[in-house]
Amino acid sequence: MDTELLFLTPAQIASAETEALVVVAGKTPPQEAGPALAAAAASLYPNDEFSGKALELGLLHHPRGLQAQRLLLAGRGEAGLGALELWRLAGAAARLLKGKGIKQMTAVAPEGLAPAEAIRAIVTGVDSANFDPDTYKSERKQRQIAKLQVILPANADKKTAETAAREAAILAGAQGFARELANEPGNRLTPTVMGQRAQAMAKACGLEFELIGAEKARELGMGAFLAVAQGSAEPPVMMVLRHRGGAAGGPTLGLIGKGVTFDSGGISIKPADKMDLMKFDMAGGAATLGAMQAIAALKLPLNVIAIVPATENMPGGRAQKPGDVQTAMSGKTIEILNTDAEGRLILADALHYARQLGATHLIDAATLTGAVVVALGNVHGGVFANRDDFYAVFEAARRRTGEKMWRLPLDAEYADQIKGTVGDILNTGGRWGGAITAAEFLHAFVGETPWIHLDIAGTAWLEENKPWMPKGPTGAPTYTLIELARELAAAKN
Ligand code: BES
Ligand code: MN
Ligand code: ZN
Repeated sequence: MDTELLFLTPAQIASAETEALVVVAGKTPPQEAGPALAAAAASLYPNDEFSGKALELGLLHHPRGLQAQRLLLAGRGEAGLGALELWRLAGAAARLLKGKGIKQMTAVAPEGLAPAEAIRAIVTGVDSANFDPDTYKSERKQRQIAKLQVILPANADKKTAETAAREAAILAGAQGFARELANEPGNRLTPTVMGQRAQAMAKACGLEFELIGAEKARELGMGAFLAVAQGSAEPPVMMVLRHRGGAAGGPTLGLIGKGVTFDSGGISIKPADKMDLMKFDMAGGAATLGAMQAIAALKLPLNVIAIVPATENMPGGRAQKPGDVQTAMSGKTIEILNTDAEGRLILADALHYARQLGATHLIDAATLTGAVVVALGNVHGGVFANRDDFYAVFEAARRRTGEKMWRLPLDAEYADQIKGTVGDILNTGGRWGGAITAAEFLHAFVGETPWIHLDIAGTAWLEENKPWMPKGPTGAPTYTLIELARELAAAKN
């Protein structure tokens, strides 16, 4: 998508030539973009054809007094218009327009948001709406907003605006990268292919890259990771990416993402219904890779290590069995009660390895439990943290992204549910509090290192179209991972 910033007075807005001029509007015709536009918009208000409700869209052809071919009013709603609301509005407008084959969108940045914030919401919102999940259709829709213009007040600071636009393009690219990967079917995105895609990305943006294969993993003692992989004919890989933006010996953020390219459940096999969705069980890994792409492009002054353990979870003749005991890299022994609780196994070794490589702060993203979807539905992701101060830093970062997440507790009493009988720790803690016992399992491998765990099982995939986004991979929590890195980079300087 080609993006252009225009700095215009209200009078100039009337003479902007475009396929579609988009303006945020409330209960009454918008005044901020000049009298000509207000007059044109007014014709949509009688009979409640448009009344300014949140996400409502009103389209007018050949608006009188404007040079634009169409005027699209986008409802601001009763609640305040923040970055999230504008992000969604921009996406909804783009989806309506591209659905009609319109390729150009010119959006007026609304008053009430700083220009940089508005630019970011509009650029990332439209780019996000441009995504279509039809990768392998013989005839792809190929309907896109190819050219986006953002209209800013004539006196807005050009430099700030241009920086915001450049950064927004980086964020959008990172999210798009994550969504493309998460959408790939298991047969096309095997662990090997995921590793190749990561390597190509790392090379393109100057990140250090290393692939740990099964042999090296065995040498390193990654018994939990290999236990999951042993049932599959596809070889596992653990990707390690590094961005050295900070001082040597300075704080290092470890990003860890679950990369199960297909989760059948293994011997504790899943029911057939919706098992196809388990191709997205690498969405956390995809978000991690997307975030690394952005961290490199933004040249953040922070050291970052990303680790993405990738494997299939399959029921093969060599697959691990319920009752098996595995030895993790940390030395802890794990009693396998259910082979479908595989994510925590591969993350246990990845988290441990990240600490060994020098990570001083950890965040992992994983489609870890169905239980978090029971708790929070598809609206909020689950957040767990072992330190309140690090959580506060995280929350400040997350709030800027519009990605909804809600903190759930860690507590030693939940950890009691996963005390082992034959080995140190059980890989499942029974039915109750399943998202929390999964988090407590990971907790056992991070020690005292400040750590955040994101359970994104309910938020990385949309099962139904939303006005602002098609069904399919959402890209969450790519933005949040990037913002956390930005927050830490800013704190250390
Ligand atoms: N990948 C699944 C979790 C999942 C479920 C993600 C639904 C997205 C949507 C994970 O590996 C899993 O199977 N978890 C089990 C754990 C249980 C066996 C303790 C679950 O949630 O059922
Ligand atoms: Mn599973
Ligand atoms: Zn899984």
